Amino acid sequence: MASCLVGGLIAKDYPRALIRTSDPGEATRKKMRERHQILAINDNHALVEGADIVVLAVKPQILESVAKGIAPSLKTNCAVISIAAGVPVRALQRWLGEQTAIIRAMPNTPSLVLAGATGLFANPQVTTNQRKSVDQLFKAVGVVSWLSSETQIDAVTAVSGSAPAYFFLIFEIMQRIAQELGLSEDAAYDLVLQTARGATKMAATAEVDCAELRRQVTSAGGTTERALQIFDNGGLEDLFRCAMNGAVDRAQEMADDFAK
Ligand SMILES: NC(=O)c1ccc[n+]([C@@H]2O[C@H](COP(=O)([O-])OP(=O)(O)OC[C@H]3O[C@@H](n4cnc5c(N)ncnc54)[C@H](OP(=O)(O)O)[C@@H]3O)[C@@H](O)[C@H]2O)c1
Repeated sequence: MASCLVGGLIAKDYPRALIRTSDPGEATRKKMRERHQILAINDNHALVEGADIVVLAVKPQILESVAKGIAPSLKTNCAVISIAAGVPVRALQRWLGEQTAIIRAMPNTPSLVLAGATGLFANPQVTTNQRKSVDQLFKAVGVVSWLSSETQIDAVTAVSGSAPAYFFLIFEIMQRIAQELGLSEDAAYDLVLQTARGATKMAATAEVDCAELRRQVTSAGGTTERALQIFDNGGLEDLFRCAMNGAVDRAQEMADDFAK
């Protein structure tokens, strides 16, 4: 995820010299240097010293040790952004210091191609200027939505954080079935992806909503109608509801673990 954010920032001409990373793995550091031509070191303390913004992009399970480790080296007006799923602000404040300006962010991997979607929640310690900087940072890699309550982050996790995987799964399924129906691998790939692009573009630019766009493709008694009926009879909406609520439940379970 860190590499996605860095890649997006660089593609938007954010100065490389202002982006630094720290990672314990030599292979990851090498990848960061080669892919992005930025500084990659193995020293979290040195990394955060003097920084105005620190992004914590480690797995939730090791966030506590990383946060406690850097706390003494943070300058007083540093804003710390955590992108870890399920780790609440109150846990981060406990580890980093009660007065620390903290932003919880839930980005997604399309940030790498400047098409990310990020939900952001700030604690009251975050200043207007820090908000502006964080806003700019994530807007460099996509769209940003500021949240009024922290619990909304769990919804964002289900709606956009985890969701690139839902679409990739749908693409995989459609490509597989396209081949079962006799198309070549290349044709299956091209047709599915281009249709997804086209549908997204139409949804984003049309003056009508998605339901109306769907109705416009669906002639009475036609092929689309048959396919949509089968999705409906198979309980597609309920299946999505269960899956997205499952993602929210998992985020809440993780938050409960960190509240202890
Ligand atoms: N993937 C997503 O789509 C997504 C979306 C939104 C939010 N997130 C959140 O983003 C965070 C990172 O996820 P990810 O998928 O990018 O995980 P990841 O690929 O495992 O990246 C985490 C990185 O942190 C490094 N690391 C481990 N210990 C460290 C330490 N003590 N100090 C500094 N760096 C350390 C790891 O290095 P080594 O591998 O060398 O140990 C690894 O390069 C998670 O908290 C996740 O909840 C992910």
